[in-house]
Amino acid sequence: MNEKAKADHTGNDRARGAIILRGVSKTYGSGDAAVRALTDVDLSVRPGELVAVLGASGSGKTTLLNVIGGIEAADSGSVIVAGQDISGRKPAALGEFRRDHVGFVFQFFNLIPTLTARENVEVIVELTGRGDRGRVPELLAAVGLDDRADHFPAQLSGGQQQRVSIARALATDPDLLLADEPTGALDVATGQGVLALLQRASRAGRGVVMVTHNEVAAAIADRVIRMRDGRVTAEDVNANPAAAESIRW
Ligand SMILES: Nc1ncnc2c1ncn2[C@@H]1O[C@H](COP(=O)(O)OP(=O)(O)O)[C@@H](O)[C@H]1O
Ligand SMILES: [Mg+2]
Repeated sequence: MNEKAKADHTGNDRARGAIILRGVSKTYGSGDAAVRALTDVDLSVRPGELVAVLGASGSGKTTLLNVIGGIEAADSGSVIVAGQDISGRKPAALGEFRRDHVGFVFQFFNLIPTLTARENVEVIVELTGRGDRGRVPELLAAVGLDDRADHFPAQLSGGQQQRVSIARALATDPDLLLADEPTGALDVATGQGVLALLQRASRAGRGVVMVTHNEVAAAIADRVIRMRDGRVTAEDVNANPAAAESIRW
């Protein structure tokens, strides 16, 4: 990490990893083709908190994650993430915000097939100018892949590929980790390993939001948000979140 980024982090510790959404709405398209994806959503996530978002397909979960992470702009409402008000920012500024603050994990891993596990992580450090290339082996070891660093994605299992994608998401030392159905393509045993890594990332002080279809996976969260038709319909605190290693589905 460069000196400026370090200073930003230490000077901004309490804001690191926090998410505050107020009255957020988002519509895709216009006129007869308009689809309301989010309606008046409020959400707060504290640094170090793991929040699970549950809801049927089409309920707005991905849109919510994309608005938090600056992949898409909200139409209205206030979006304050990692101490920055990103409401109303233009795409270029959102891109910069994403690069500096957010790690994304997707259902289908999105690794570059022609690069090894190590190179898939290194390329993010190079493209963003954040993080430390020298730390990549350590990151791969932390996700249990030190002996797979020189394998290509096609030579790795789904769970191993998802672990590479988590190492990649953490390579820039992001304040937030946003995961969209991260276990959706995995079997139970490998899914558990992935959930354990998300839980560990939150315990390290990051805000972590995990979208899932899986009620059991949500047991590892500190808080569970339920969505229907673009609205948050329920919010439950888990007084005793389960250890990822202890759950089965
Ligand atoms: N790019 C898009 N263009 C038009 N409609 C979209 C787009 N993305 C999502 N939608 C619509 O917005 C609603 C919410 O979608 P989404 O956030 O993907 O839900 P979920 O992730 O819960 O399945 C759905 O009705 C979906 O069809
Ligand atoms: Mg989705």
